[in-house]
Amino acid sequence: MTETLVLRGGTVVDASGSRVADVVVGDDGRIAAVGEQSEKLSADRELDAGGCIVSPGFIDLHTHLREPGKEEAETIETGARGGALGGFTALVAMPNTTPPMDSVSVVQEVIALGEPALTDIIASAAITIGRAGEELAPMAELAKLGVRIFTDDGTGVQDDLLMKRALEYSVGLSPFTGGASVALAQHCEVTALSEGTYMHEGEWSSRLGIPGQPAESEELMVMRDIALAKSTGARVHFQHLSTAGSVELVRAAKAKGIPVTAEATTHHFTLTDAACASYDTVFKVHPPLRGDADVAAVKAGLADGTIDAIATDHAPHCAHDKERPFDAAPPGMIGLETALALAITELDLPIETLVGLLSWKPAKIAGIDDVHGGPIAVGRPANLTVFDPDEAWTIDSNSFASRSTNCPYEGHEVKGKVRHTVVHGEAVVIDQEAQR
Ligand code: DOR
Repeated sequence: MTETLVLRGGTVVDASGSRVADVVVGDDGRIAAVGEQSEKLSADRELDAGGCIVSPGFIDLHTHLREPGKEEAETIETGARGGALGGFTALVAMPNTTPPMDSVSVVQEVIALGEPALTDIIASAAITIGRAGEELAPMAELAKLGVRIFTDDGTGVQDDLLMKRALEYSVGLSPFTGGASVALAQHCEVTALSEGTYMHEGEWSSRLGIPGQPAESEELMVMRDIALAKSTGARVHFQHLSTAGSVELVRAAKAKGIPVTAEATTHHFTLTDAACASYDTVFKVHPPLRGDADVAAVKAGLADGTIDAIATDHAPHCAHDKERPFDAAPPGMIGLETALALAITELDLPIETLVGLLSWKPAKIAGIDDVHGGPIAVGRPANLTVFDPDEAWTIDSNSFASRSTNCPYEGHEVKGKVRHTVVHGEAVVIDQEAQR
């Protein structure tokens, strides 16, 4: 790091609250000063934060970066660039790559590829070999590499006993993590109920003649894993919760002190299954877009803390793959560059709550809160996002850094735009432009 920075004239928001302050970043990549007497604080480079929120950087608990194996759709470099433009300073890379991240060598490869990226790349790893749900991955060796989130995402662990063993095993991993705990993150979907389904089961699936996935497909696995978290004492993180029933189950589990956390994606609080009426495969996603009551429940869960984090489930797919018929097209939507704006536009939340959902709460779940998620205080690593909550813009996926354009919000008018992103003291995005 060669230059010092001052973020001038913004409102600083972290877990301790809000205040108007300038933030100086030292040439060691750490916060050097936070102060209200702007004229006294100077640096090599000044970045205007007027009218903006200066927050700890955002953490995405759920990013598909497609590397290794599907670089045509995304690479770690392009995904991280999109992430930085979206205000993220760290992305948790999902393990459904080709080959999957179920071994030391593949996880090491992802970590190495992530080194020069614009954001931190936090490797997750599979719970089971090949994400096949039959045999546990070498979790201790993977934990030694720094893995703190294990998941078979893209699919859930179907075998009850294997999931119980994985949770029991996860509790004993602290000798390999320097005492830190790990979380098992679950894509809740009972395949016996979801096989051969392509959207949510409800009025729209009947009308459209598309086989529907019932809410119970998700809820039965949420229920099982709450029971297993209770009996094992292991941490379970629920990925992309999509139904009102799931939100209620997690709310009740938390009230009983069971160690569960949960995330919701931007699409599950902004879109419903009615969007599938176009038969446009951009709206095909797992878990599927649900009904109005589910969207309302997800929003309520975000507001009352039942759901801990907003995640993107950024799932880039090539146009030629998404152009297949609805049943054959791959599920997934991109989300890194729209997450903040959708959260601001669609959720009526105080700014501190919203930033918590994007930043310090997911940082804690990912086990990276020593480096990401604030507080914005002298000596802390300078991973920061500066965003204008009021800037209006129109979503145009062709302008995004992502290699894929499977964005379901094309042409939507939103507000809230990232202005600058600072990662380990380096201004990687300045005035909405990536710097390298
Ligand atoms: O829609 C989805 N796409 N859901 C998943 O769980 C996996 C993801 C992908 O990898 O494309």
